[in-house]
Amino acid sequence: MNTNDEGGVAGNNAVGSDMLAPGDMPVEEFRAAMHEVADLMADYLGGVDNYPVVPPIRPGDVARMLPASAPEQAEPIDKILTDYKRIIEPNTTHWNHPGFMAYFAVTGSGPGILGEALAGALNVNAMLWRTGPAPTELEERACDWLRQAIGLPPEFVGHINDTASVSSFVSLAAARHARKELDIRRRGMSGRTDLPRLTVYASTQAHSSIDKACVALGIGLDNLRKIETDDEFRMSPAALATAVAADREAGAVPLAVVATQGTTSSTSIDPVPAIAEVARREGMWLHIDAAYAGVAAIVPEVRAKMPGLELADSLVTNPHKWLFVPVDCSTLFVRDANQLREAFSIVPDYLTTTETNVTNLMDYGVQLGRRFRSLKLWMVMRAFGLEGLRERIRYHCALAHEFESWVAADERFELAAPVPFSTVCFRATPALSLDEQDAFNERLLARVNVAGPVLLSHTRLRGRYVMRIAIGNLRTRMSHVRAAWDLIRAAYEQVAV
Ligand SMILES: Cc1ncc(COP(=O)(O)O)c(C=O)c1O
Repeated sequence: MNTNDEGGVAGNNAVGSDMLAPGDMPVEEFRAAMHEVADLMADYLGGVDNYPVVPPIRPGDVARMLPASAPEQAEPIDKILTDYKRIIEPNTTHWNHPGFMAYFAVTGSGPGILGEALAGALNVNAMLWRTGPAPTELEERACDWLRQAIGLPPEFVGHINDTASVSSFVSLAAARHARKELDIRRRGMSGRTDLPRLTVYASTQAHSSIDKACVALGIGLDNLRKIETDDEFRMSPAALATAVAADREAGAVPLAVVATQGTTSSTSIDPVPAIAEVARREGMWLHIDAAYAGVAAIVPEVRAKMPGLELADSLVTNPHKWLFVPVDCSTLFVRDANQLREAFSIVPDYLTTTETNVTNLMDYGVQLGRRFRSLKLWMVMRAFGLEGLRERIRYHCALAHEFESWVAADERFELAAPVPFSTVCFRATPALSLDEQDAFNERLLARVNVAGPVLLSHTRLRGRYVMRIAIGNLRTRMSHVRAAWDLIRAAYEQVAV
């Protein structure tokens, strides 16, 4: 690589000569490399299913292929890209593989990848409106498009974070700050004898990010009440009300309740209207964690399964989960954006600007610097259109329901939970004790996954080991789901013998 844009190094060594500036990769070299990278990306996306979903490697194998120290001398991009193709690409788990049906399957879609690449070139840090006018205003606009599409009222303002974990953390921080009488922003929590016990409520099925938020906010795991669920894994509003009453009786201040729409294990849907009623009565903040399923509310019949989203004080949903935007992109909607700003805004001298009436994105959370994430969200929403996105989400739900019907029709298996979205929880039920069945299912899943063409994951429901198939990748078609089912049935026979 030449080391300055003029393509050479002059003989005179005065720093005053522009020719001596070390500079970036020359633009024409960059252009050529970018074309190569475009080919690499297109070849990858076009042939990703030639790889097993999970690479057949052991921990440390990749590290052994990498030099222990950085090169002292510049290396040619071609050589680096060759190593990328040899060492990196084959040795990762392929989330963009059509057979990836584990956890929550996602897609880095074509338009999203283009947005990610362009954002890289701009390399803008939109901490202030001044430092990123278009990124700031695009974030506001793209979030508002999504707000409308998922049916939240106009007072909700959207903000992009990296992950749902961070979105839930800042929401609970805002909930804590909303208790002005506690004065926690100024006085903190440590060493205070006047501070009552603060409690947060979520179902036993809530995501571990809520536990982490309670750890980080000084609320403590003991004060996160895990509320029991019904036979469909939905939080019991009556149990919530009882727990809140008991805490009040004991002198605690119930801060917030987290309702999940699309829980991580079984995608169950907490009954938001009844939970919101308890929250309103008790003066608690209502945070909705709809990390996976919330974006699917752009489909009217799916939205109808999640009544009460509009009752939230804050709601998180991840376009990087089921809206085909590359990781990372989590949208947090808050009913009153001032609550977030009051909780977090700190403006030192060096960050003051003269513009008034502008949004400075740094004011709405922990981070100052921020990536330009709205570009990929905007490109995905435009390139597919809301109708195109709805069509794809409906297709995923239809595939999941097809799989559900196969499980239901095979007496060797049972469904472990209802299927409201595109994830099916199921288990094999050979004539063994429940513990032996757990071990059987674990072995069965391992055998399916080691085969290569698909990756499924597992969870525990009511203490029992359960397999999960989650459909959310744009490349996944009926043939892939069918292949997964065939593998599962074949593995059943192999594990049984
Ligand atoms: C319901 C729910 N909430 C939160 C999360 C955490 O998401 P993130 O990885 O964006 O922090 C997940 C992850 O799967 C989830 O399923």
